[in-house]
Amino acid sequence: MHPNLDRRASRWLAIVSLSAACARGGGGVAREPFGTTHRGEAVSVYTLKNAHGIELRVLDYGGIILSLQVPDRSGRLDDVVLGFDSLGDYERGSPYFGALIGRYGNRIARGKFTLDGRTYTLATNNGPNHLHGGVRGFDKVVWAAAPFERGDSVGLVLKYTSPDGEEGYPGTLRATVTYTLTNADQLIFDYHATTDRATPVNLTQHSYFNLAGDGKGDILGHVVTLDADRFTPVDSTLIPTGEIRSVAGTPFDFRTPTAIGARIDRDDEQLRYGRGYDHNFVLNKGATGNEPTLAARVYEPTSGRVMEIATTEPGLQFYSGNFLDGTLQGKRGVVYRHRYGFAMETQHFPDSPNKPAFPSTILRPGEEYRSRTIYRFGVQP
Ligand code: GLA
Repeated sequence: MHPNLDRRASRWLAIVSLSAACARGGGGVAREPFGTTHRGEAVSVYTLKNAHGIELRVLDYGGIILSLQVPDRSGRLDDVVLGFDSLGDYERGSPYFGALIGRYGNRIARGKFTLDGRTYTLATNNGPNHLHGGVRGFDKVVWAAAPFERGDSVGLVLKYTSPDGEEGYPGTLRATVTYTLTNADQLIFDYHATTDRATPVNLTQHSYFNLAGDGKGDILGHVVTLDADRFTPVDSTLIPTGEIRSVAGTPFDFRTPTAIGARIDRDDEQLRYGRGYDHNFVLNKGATGNEPTLAARVYEPTSGRVMEIATTEPGLQFYSGNFLDGTLQGKRGVVYRHRYGFAMETQHFPDSPNKPAFPSTILRPGEEYRSRTIYRFGVQP
């Protein structure tokens, strides 16, 4: 456990470690085939288990988290992430369920940016804007995967080389993302990348959660705390205006624990533009060093499950599943209705390549992109 996570967490609410709640013993990694893409690539699913019964299943296609079994306060395991049963469903049109996002997480206005005097044009795959790396982003490619087992953790190293010009981005980007599941009930994402030409990079993970269990209803009762005094308001196409606004007195103030549903239907321009929460929060302690600091805490009262998020990133996109509308059928036949899942995407701010005042997302040759996010699971009595 990182000391920051412990110290900052105790300022909020203590969670009971799962180690005490339900020791089950036995960890490990297993691989099985999961189908073939329409391009003919073989896809595998890796099953990772820790010593307390937490089980994570990950595809090498898109680095997708297929399922995540986590104990509730009585020790009962439930899958807490949204997803599909088959590869075909993911290929046919997933709203980024569980996926690794790149080369640029979230939006770039009008699919254009200028870097070192040259203008680059990207796909506009979200209304007038570019979203989540384009038509075939990092969520839709097969990564080279290598599992590992260590004394106190299991994991998967995912590698992908994005060729120069892929989806319109400059430079060959070599990306490595490591998923580590520890016996301290943390799921750690380590992102690393290098390039041979200057390029924007903003990698994230797009799991949708329902801590009551996948398909068990909407997420409006989840109680969220965000360590963010400010957020980046957006225009009607969800591009930040450039303003950094205080959350004080707005429905975006999650500095004390508040249910997602408590204010989501208020008559508020920003909630209208987002159709709910779909906004980047400016983390108070983000980007102050190389160590992750606590950014968010989510508590689900019926199950007692708690998820804490720590990150080295300066921002977090809190998305309340507003575009889910009952048309997608997920795992075990579950229908994903409005707001049946939420995402907490740690990231640099949207549209940074066009916003010089935002923290830079430009990676240059000779530099290393490094980012770390930790999800820690527990229960609260
Ligand atoms: C991000 C975006 C949302 C939506 C989801 C995927 O959270 O900000 O607007 O596009 O991804 O559906």
